[in-house]
Order: sequence, then structure tokens, then C-alpha cells
Amino acid sequence: MPELDSPQRQTPDSLMLPGFWYRALPADRVQRNQLHQAALLEIPLVVGRDRQGQAFALRDACPHRGMPLHDGHFDGARVECPYHGWTFDARSGQCQLIPSLTADQDLRVDRIYAGSFPGEEQDGFVWVYIPEPGPQGAGFTKPAEASHPAPQVKKFSGKCKLAYLTADMPVSVDHGIIGLMDPAHGPFVHQAWWWRSRHSIHEKHKNFEPIPNGFRMSAHTPSSNSAPYKLLRLYAAADSITTTIDFVLPNLRSETIRAGKFWFSSLTTVTPITRNHCRIDVVAAWNIFRWVPFGPELLKFVFAKFVEQDRRTMEMQAEGLKHNPHLMLIDDADRPAKWYFQLKAAHLEAKRTGGEMKHPMAGPVTLKWRS
Ligand code: FES
Ligand SMILES: [Fe+2]
Repeated sequence: MPELDSPQRQTPDSLMLPGFWYRALPADRVQRNQLHQAALLEIPLVVGRDRQGQAFALRDACPHRGMPLHDGHFDGARVECPYHGWTFDARSGQCQLIPSLTADQDLRVDRIYAGSFPGEEQDGFVWVYIPEPGPQGAGFTKPAEASHPAPQVKKFSGKCKLAYLTADMPVSVDHGIIGLMDPAHGPFVHQAWWWRSRHSIHEKHKNFEPIPNGFRMSAHTPSSNSAPYKLLRLYAAADSITTTIDFVLPNLRSETIRAGKFWFSSLTTVTPITRNHCRIDVVAAWNIFRWVPFGPELLKFVFAKFVEQDRRTMEMQAEGLKHNPHLMLIDDADRPAKWYFQLKAAHLEAKRTGGEMKHPMAGPVTLKWRS
């Protein structure tokens, strides 16, 4: 009997996970000496790049009266609030000046902080680390430190090309993620004459295995009706092509396709912006198509088309979700989605108890579906 399960069993508080790095903005949009608005996990941020070219992120609310700092003045090192001119160090968020203080008023200005977040640039994106919420007492919290570096796209040779795509989705991060790992929508959403139609649906068997904080679709020859496979067939023998797809909490999907010395790799993230809004960013790196003039454009065209089809689908889905309908997850096509919810629950449980995270998968499994 296939199991039925409801994705709505999630409590709303488990929707967005702190304690991880998230992509905030494409790095090429963040110019030196400029401030940009961004948001992650419902936290308003001001993201900028200082005089040295280093990216930073501050909470976009002045600790004095909550004024958005992105409207303030930035000289390349310090951000000045547009309301009363309090001035903060861009990287640490430490207050450096309160213009209204008189010489004999000894308020310790340097104890005040506009919340700051660790920032890192990786593969063309500014990543921001969102720490576990600290004790209340905002305004005096020193910058948090990340326990690990920001994730990277896997690369298998020095010389490679890099490109990114980004799309806003009007749904929660959970719908964004389960939409991404869902094999059954392909023939319906991603139809194209040069790729496949619903008539190409056939039964598939895929092996999955547990990996730390996630699961892997084990290395296999890509399905004959997938786009990367069709492109790679131009370069390598069909049976030398293998692909591996990993999902790792909180939101990382990485896909690696290898064909002899050629490789194509992507890291896709679904970033929670607010409860009902997420963003999908795909960063791809490859060493194929280097000699073909139209190669990268073709690839971007294919991926842009895919992402746009998913975006339009989620826009329609958001209409349906407005009325909070009952939902279900079925075996086996929705099993990866179930693992995702179970991984999240296990992660939260481990944090609550301080113990080891119990992986929801006992070992390798084969899933079957038609797509
Ligand atoms: S609100 Fe920012 S200085 Fe007063
Ligand atoms: Fe899709």
C-alpha cells in the first residue's frame, strides 16, 4: 500500500532554519560603496561592499528607532542612519558616533551594535550566515561567527566557466524545495518539442543513499529524456556519462555530471526570503562546450527555460495554496519530499536535545516512478 502523508504536518516554526549560510544576492549586483536591500528568513538586511571590495550584511533596522539603514549614507566604511545620524562600522555593526551626545555625556557608544552577519563571496553570490537567534537584548549583540564556510559548487578542474540564474517564487521554501526534487512534474511542466513530451513517460528505478544531512541519488546514467544528457551525448559515449544528485539541508541541491574528462556541475539553492516567498538560484560550472561558440548560451537557454517553467508553475500553485487546501505526499514519487521533511524534523530534534541527528534513512533504497 502506498503511504499517504501530509506536507502540512509541519509546524510553521520549522519552516526556515537558522544556523546556515544562505545566498543573499548575486555578487555582480553589489557594487563598491553601495547599499542594497535584501531579506533572508524574514530578516531585513542591508548588503553592501566596502572600499576594500569586501561584502557585508547588517540588519536593516537602526538599533535606535528601527529606521531602515539602506536609505542611509555609506562612505565605503561606515553606514550613517538617515534619522539621527548614528554611524555604524559596516563590517562589525559597531556604533561609532551618536551626533546628539554632548561632550560631558558618557554613553558607551561602542557597546551599541546594528546587528551584523558574517558575509562571504562564493561562485558569484554574496552568502550571508544566519545564526541561531541569540538572547533578546538587540542593540548590544556582537557579530556572530559562522562555524563552517559557505558552500561551493563542486569543480573538477582548474579551468571552467561559471554562470548563474535566479528566479523569485511566491511560495514557501518547503514548496520550492519539494518542487525541485519532485520527479513527477517533468513531463507535464517541462514539455518542449526538442526535449520531451508527456508521451515519453516511462518507468524509472533510481537508487538513493543517505549522506550526512541529506540524501543522494546514486551515480547513474542520466535518463535518456533529460536535457543535460542530450547535450552531453554530443561530447561523449552514452555509457560513459554518469550523474549524481545530492540534497543537503537546509536547501542545497548539487548535481554532477561526468563524461570522461568533461564535467558539468551545479549548485541550486532555494532560499527562504519570507514565509511565503522563496528564491531559486542556480549556479553552474562546467568545462564542456569550451570550444563551441554557442555552448554556454545554449546551456543558459535550456536552464532559463526550465527555471521559468518552474516559476510559472509555482505562481499558479500559490493561487491554490491561498485557501490552505489539504495536501498529500505519495510513494514513491514524493518519497524524496518526505525525506526532506524528516531530515528537517531530525535536525530540529537534535538541536533541541543537543544530541546527534538521527538520519531518517536506514540505508540505500530504490524508488520507482513513471516520468
Ligand atoms: S533611528 Fe537611526 S539614528 Fe535614530
Ligand atoms: Fe522543475
